[in-house]
Amino acid sequence: MKKLFMMLMAGLLVTACASKPKTEQAAEEPAKKVLVLYYSVTNTTKQMAEYIQQKTGADIEAIAPVNAYPSDYSELIKRSQEEIQGNVLPELKPLAHNVADYDIIFLGYPIWMGTYARPVMTLLANTDFNGKTVIPFCTSGSSGIKQSVGDLQKAIPGAQIPQCVGVRSSLMDKMPAAVDRVLIAMDLIEGENEVLADYSAQQAPTAEETAIFDAAISTYDMMKGTKAVSVGSRKTSNGTDYKFVGEANGAQMDIYITKENGDAAPYFTAVDR
Ligand SMILES: Cc1cc2nc3c(=O)[nH]c(=O)nc-3n(C[C@H](O)[C@H](O)[C@H](O)COP(=O)(O)O)c2cc1C
Repeated sequence: MKKLFMMLMAGLLVTACASKPKTEQAAEEPAKKVLVLYYSVTNTTKQMAEYIQQKTGADIEAIAPVNAYPSDYSELIKRSQEEIQGNVLPELKPLAHNVADYDIIFLGYPIWMGTYARPVMTLLANTDFNGKTVIPFCTSGSSGIKQSVGDLQKAIPGAQIPQCVGVRSSLMDKMPAAVDRVLIAMDLIEGENEVLADYSAQQAPTAEETAIFDAAISTYDMMKGTKAVSVGSRKTSNGTDYKFVGEANGAQMDIYITKENGDAAPYFTAVDR
């Protein structure tokens, strides 16, 4: 799964490609039926869902709790924490689309407390995903998609999860390229993905690498005080990708950072705790 995730995070590289929905072109094979299901409170994940819908021509539907969550951030945190503590699954309005009618389901959510938002938990408990291809996509403040994909695979073991894509909410300008990479890999749009090398073996960071790390994490308050312990890297057509192991308060985490060619500041794309 680690390898899959690294491959997918590389989707944040900009991939130049013209594309149109394959469903409009396929003559020989019956087109796969694609549904985009998503949950979003503050509309960040919704942007990603709508982009996938536009590129693929898929059907799309928002997951809707009967009792809508507040959009006020502290109220939202409060309710989600109460639900976690009380082990409450929010009741959902019935879907207008029938998952059984589709081959591929793009399943989108914000990351809440490290994993998919709670309404998705209800959906997974109530819906048969056996034999379906599920492509998780998410937005988050900093967390990578990895933990939620592991949790999904446990919740719906009969589904195939060949791809996934997570984007930080502050990096939505990189979202189309990250999503395109997955759509190309799924053969849903035309284009060619850059073949990415593995990261080099982890070693102690140089002064230059430490400076890149410090600059990238300085943009996010919750990462302050995190120290770079080791780093592996790889060159891409876009610049350099780094996989740092960072440490804060005795806990280690993987931190993915990209430094694009030119003078642009380095940025981190995901933190896996
Ligand atoms: C209850 C709650 C918990 C959250 N937990 C995390 C988290 O664990 N990691 C993280 O990176 N972001 C976390 N976030 C931030 C959201 O994932 C992020 O703002 C997301 O883009 C919101 O998506 P939306 O606009 O589609 O609702 C959390 C937000 C909320 C409201």
